[in-house]
Amino acid sequence: MERYEGVSGPWAAQARDLGIRSAVGAPITVEGHLWGVMVAVWTQQGCVPVIDAEARMANFTELVGTAIANTESRAELDASRARIVATADATRRRIERDLHDGAQQQLVSLALELRAAQAAAPPELGALQAELSHVVERLTGVMDELREIALGLHPAVLAEGGLGPALKTLAHRSPIPVELDVRAEGRLPEPVEVAAYYVVSEALTNAAKYASASVVHVAVEDRKRMLRIAVRDDDRGGADPVRGSGLFGLKDRAEAIGGTLCLESPRGAGTSLVVELPLDAN
Ligand SMILES: Nc1ncnc2c1ncn2[C@@H]1O[C@H](COP(=O)(O)OP(=O)(O)OP(=O)(O)O)[C@@H](O)[C@H]1O
Ligand SMILES: [Mg+2]
Repeated sequence: MERYEGVSGPWAAQARDLGIRSAVGAPITVEGHLWGVMVAVWTQQGCVPVIDAEARMANFTELVGTAIANTESRAELDASRARIVATADATRRRIERDLHDGAQQQLVSLALELRAAQAAAPPELGALQAELSHVVERLTGVMDELREIALGLHPAVLAEGGLGPALKTLAHRSPIPVELDVRAEGRLPEPVEVAAYYVVSEALTNAAKYASASVVHVAVEDRKRMLRIAVRDDDRGGADPVRGSGLFGLKDRAEAIGGTLCLESPRGAGTSLVVELPLDAN
């Protein structure tokens, strides 16, 4: 618009009220849709005082459109990552529940029935007694294995007792001694507790698989706005996410809830994994 005098319409009237004499505007298009408009205005008398104002404005709004599209895709990607992690967790939790309430309960009652049958079997049927006791033993083995699987899927202790007790359970199960220092009181947002649990679980499994460290240090600290989890061993180092899926999985999990993962593992100097998870966004 080179001038607003004599132009009808509410925008022209408002422009005149504001003392605007000329303007250059260009639409902002995001992914083929009109998203908005950018307008530069001048109050000086005469026409638009900038050379190539239209072309420059159009170039700029094109950049703005691309930037908005990128930001929107990034936000959508973050949201979909978070949804994928949440859905996977919910599925694991459901399978754990199903195992606990279904197969595990049935095996427990089967073991009781077998023990009762063993007790009722006449003592002179020694071979039958031995056979029954062998079956009970194998059944107990299956139950233990199933319990381990359920624990790996979604530990009930995490849902019931929170992070502190769940990490204690992990530390007890670790074949390498664990020095555990948890400075986080009370319950934390569920996605944070679950992510923190898997970080420690994967780091301890890796330490047991690849490092022959004498001790693994696990420190968890509630820093008010974020939870910091650090796992460190002083063994051979050289951990590299491209050789597996565990560390990449942790990075995805951390980033899905707005957190970060930092791995330092120089050869010969141990491995340190630090994960920071925001507490206010979850
Ligand atoms: N604490 C560690 N000390 C030395 N090397 C390690 C350590 N942790 C991991 N690594 C090395 O880094 C690689 C990648 O680890 P990552 O956990 O991502 O995958 P993985 O353990 O091989 O397989 P997955 O976790 O998928 O079962 C491992 O294969 C191993 O060689
Ligand atoms: Mg691993």
